[in-house]
Amino acid sequence: MRQIHVLNGPNLNLLGRREPGIYGAATLADIEAEMRALGEKLGVAITCRQSNHEGELVTWIQEAGLSGADVILNAGAYTHTSVAIRDAIKGAGARVIEVHISNVHAREEFRHHSYISPVVAGIIVGFGIAGYRLAVQALLEMKPNS
Ligand code: DQA
Repeated sequence: MRQIHVLNGPNLNLLGRREPGIYGAATLADIEAEMRALGEKLGVAITCRQSNHEGELVTWIQEAGLSGADVILNAGAYTHTSVAIRDAIKGAGARVIEVHISNVHAREEFRHHSYISPVVAGIIVGFGIAGYRLAVQALLEMKPNS
């Protein structure tokens, strides 16, 4: 069975109450429930994790990459700062779809640069929480890892 790990980074645990004008009303629990339901419907094993800690995300990306699981990653603000997350993706050979709920390119300049974009398979930006569902669809249209 194909494995997809849905990894969310810092402050995404606050979805629903965090700047709803930008990120919407859905909570992280809503997103994860939708991912699990989609996984059951499509016959894909979905694992959902969230952390506010960079090193924990690095460990989870390594785990996913080394086990052949695909990754849907919203690295939050670490997108714009983290060489360690980029190196984890590259080092573990993880196939990653980078997701951002908001259109980062229409926001502050510091959000326009992503350290991880050059090492991911694709990027889905600005479609709200639908981006996570679109990322599952995109991965399923790619060849399995193993
Ligand atoms: C985000 C965009 C980032 O710039 C921000 O730091 C986040 C969320 C998004 O999903 O739109 O935490 O990744």
